[in-house]
Amino acid sequence: QCPFRGSRIGGALGSKPQTDDWWPNRLQVELLHQNLPQANPLRDFDYKGAFAKIDFEQLKSDIKALLTDSKDWWPADYGNYGPQMIRMAWHAAGTYRIADGRGGASQGMQRFAPINSWWDNGNTDKSRRLLWPIKQKYGAALSWADLMTLTGNCALEIMGFKTFGFGGGRIDAWEADRAIYWGPEFWNGDPIDDIKEYPGHPDEMVTRTIRWVGKPNEEYYDLENPLAASHQALIYVNPEGPNAEGDPHGSARDIRETFARMGMNDEETVALIAGGHAFGKSHGMVSPDKIGPAPEAAPIQAMGLGWQNPEGTGFAQYTMTNGIEGSWTPNPTQWDNSYLTNLFKYDWEQTKSPTDAIQWKPSNPDAPKTPDAHQPGVEHPLMMMTSDIALKVDPVYHEICQHFLDDFDYFSDAFARAWYKLIHRDMGPKTRYLGPEIPAEDLIWQDPIPALDHEVVDVADINFLKDKILASGISVSALVSAAWSAASSHRHSDKRGGANGARVRLNPQKDWEMNRPQELGEVLSTLEAIQADFNSTQSGSKKISMADLIVLGGCAAIEKAAQDAGVSVAVPFTPGRMDTTQELTDVEMFNWLKPVSDGFRNYHNEAVGYKVKPERIFLDRAQLLTLTAPEWTVLVGGLRALDQNWDYSKHGSFTDRPGVLTNDFFRVLTSMDYEWKPIDNREMLFNICDRKTGETKFTATRCDLIFGSNAELRQIAEVYGADDGNERMVKDFAAVWNKVMMLDRFDVGA
Ligand code: HEM
Repeated sequence: QCPFRGSRIGGALGSKPQTDDWWPNRLQVELLHQNLPQANPLRDFDYKGAFAKIDFEQLKSDIKALLTDSKDWWPADYGNYGPQMIRMAWHAAGTYRIADGRGGASQGMQRFAPINSWWDNGNTDKSRRLLWPIKQKYGAALSWADLMTLTGNCALEIMGFKTFGFGGGRIDAWEADRAIYWGPEFWNGDPIDDIKEYPGHPDEMVTRTIRWVGKPNEEYYDLENPLAASHQALIYVNPEGPNAEGDPHGSARDIRETFARMGMNDEETVALIAGGHAFGKSHGMVSPDKIGPAPEAAPIQAMGLGWQNPEGTGFAQYTMTNGIEGSWTPNPTQWDNSYLTNLFKYDWEQTKSPTDAIQWKPSNPDAPKTPDAHQPGVEHPLMMMTSDIALKVDPVYHEICQHFLDDFDYFSDAFARAWYKLIHRDMGPKTRYLGPEIPAEDLIWQDPIPALDHEVVDVADINFLKDKILASGISVSALVSAAWSAASSHRHSDKRGGANGARVRLNPQKDWEMNRPQELGEVLSTLEAIQADFNSTQSGSKKISMADLIVLGGCAAIEKAAQDAGVSVAVPFTPGRMDTTQELTDVEMFNWLKPVSDGFRNYHNEAVGYKVKPERIFLDRAQLLTLTAPEWTVLVGGLRALDQNWDYSKHGSFTDRPGVLTNDFFRVLTSMDYEWKPIDNREMLFNICDRKTGETKFTATRCDLIFGSNAELRQIAEVYGADDGNERMVKDFAAVWNKVMMLDRFDVGA
């Protein structure tokens, strides 16, 4: 008898089927509670303090020494690990997408599934394992996320490239992210899984090696707009062109689309590709069918390494990573302009790699050759991928390449800046960067906010200003809406947006329809008058910024709304925000922060044609604000009481006292006095009818009803809807309100 009951028939913890297998459409509220401190062995660790104590020069020289110290278990191409480390760092950062700010290098997610096992990340497991001695030496003071990106910089530097700078401060995650949507499993009907069976290992070796197959098409680009890769399991695009058909024009189209979704313009895109492929080589010596499972599916004795290659030694000249074979330049470990020089100097013709992948070689047999990475005296023709030829055939890319060809210094600077942006893009404001190599120059993609330049208000000033604001005649609802519009633009994923900077006064945010623009304009001009009055009567450098005043207005309004409900509460307020300018705001990039759907304000434009239900997008937004399920619930109950719908509709406003912080939302939501009837078969809007009289008392959206229909959320709604729930609700609402207002206060350690 097996002592562990159940295990004989496969019933260990977490075995399928679980709730989600039975009911795949349930709202996965638990996704709000990932990465709990309990999963983090360093949860109380002061990373900033520890990082500051590192001898940064020593660290960099340790990394640089490692890069040319070839190990027998994975010998370095050309005796230099630099190129493979650049690729590792690029792939770490290249998962970033501007639409929701997710992905990117800042949590070291390349260590976890699914990213660690994407076919496109082939052999990055070796790169990280090679770095273990450095990680081991510096321990908790150096996160994997910082180490991977810094190693990319060190690699560039040892090969003669001057990098733009480096900021540390990336905090590692400790578990795979179960929430991020990376794309469908099927592309136009083609499965992207390669289900393989490995005889002799019946359980663990039935694996899913996620590979790219399938065909992106025009329709796909619309449907999957947020994603920044043309296929799941790819960081960006298929190097052989769409559907591996070797079409450079199609490849250019894919490159433009996917790099734009990473927030890169055409020049940055060309600089990155031409800069990156100045180094290293592609590996394609062994058929993919012979390669073992990816790390996540590998047998236990592989100890986390994947893609075992049974051919020859399995590495060096036998290496198989991607399937394409060869190098772009005659000197793959030296920064120079030969990638572009040769791309443009020679005509290129299609050929096949040893594994039958489409690649290109110079038509002219006298073109320069490139040395074999391991066998002395052996040479090969230069290689280009279809995605490299794309840079030559696309007219806009072509012109940029010509500029780079004519001016190597300009190209070097463009690559340095684009690389810096790539690896720091998801870190948020520059105030979060650590270490001695942070460039002084502010860059527009960092959404700059000037540093605090004045003495901040004290308690007496705060009380004085709150009275002034409330006496100004602006409604509670309008004050709350202005503050919420400012702060809720924040997203934790790439730490952009938020109340600091007062960008809610500027283009484009001031005109977003869910911000109630006309009312917002009126609130802002009233607050500006209060600000001018206050600032002009101060001696010394004391001032209040608009960013602070907008938040303070929200605090004052909530305290009044609570008072009107009979509960006294002090909403915390931390001054010190600064106002930024229109010139320091990239309007196009900022527009990505505009919610496509926003349950907090019952904003959902059906004309967009979503495939996803509003409550799912709502959950997504709650996660981007780092809300827990109770915080999310209480926030919505409060916002509904405070009349925050974007169009002033009364959906979810289950009260006859709007603007008062009651728990009426929860009382109605949990009451059996009512029936909930969809107004039509789309089930988007609902009438809430008195069961006895049939009279419609209220209306609601899916984003209201979900708090009564989902089992987890309903339990929380009951807490706040109970007779002892109102005071609890007000206090919890004030706390989470403050949390949201402070999400972007990295200047005070948020
Ligand atoms: C290698 C594709 C952009 C840096 C490779 C490989 C492929 C590839 C297929 C070969 C992997 C292997 O078999 O080992 C692409 C495509 C790109 C792109 C399709 C975009 C259209 C970039 C960018 C960078 C970069 C933006 C960095 C800025 C590198 C480096 C290598 C490499 C350094 C050599 C790795 C080594 O020597 O082990 N790329 N890449 N690539 N890529 Fe890219």
